[in-house]
Amino acid sequence: MPTKSKPAKPKVKAILDSYQGDPSMLVSILQDVQAEYNYLPKETLTQVSQDLDIPLTRVYSVATFFKAFSLKPRGRHIINVCLGTACHVRGAVRIRDEIERELDIKPGETTEDFKFTLETVNCVGACALGPIVIIDSKYSGQMKPDKVKTLLESYD
Ligand code: FES
Repeated sequence: MPTKSKPAKPKVKAILDSYQGDPSMLVSILQDVQAEYNYLPKETLTQVSQDLDIPLTRVYSVATFFKAFSLKPRGRHIINVCLGTACHVRGAVRIRDEIERELDIKPGETTEDFKFTLETVNCVGACALGPIVIIDSKYSGQMKPDKVKTLLESYD
């Protein structure tokens, strides 16, 4: 196990400073770090642990407990395909398959150019609009496989 950490990241330092080193704000700090990098790079967790003076194991346990956090690099855009019951019966699996085919990735994976990460969710509470694809925070309802390519191409 390497013990030497990489140089501190100034953006993480600024985030930590904005919370005045308050260890009770760990989740919010990790959210801000993830918003900055799209995931939680290893060295940022070390930096957070050192700055807040809390064990690295605790930082990791929080970072791995919440599904919203990722320790792996993610794409600039996060695609969520709803596979809840209502979307499922309206063809959500075909939408997911089409996205997989277009991007050549499976759920949980990221494209080689780090443009997209594909994930699935179970019901986002908008069943009447199903099947639904959410990219970042934008909802696209009544999706059809033949709309997938155009939707994906609308992202830089
Ligand atoms: S099942 Fe997809 S929004 Fe409810």
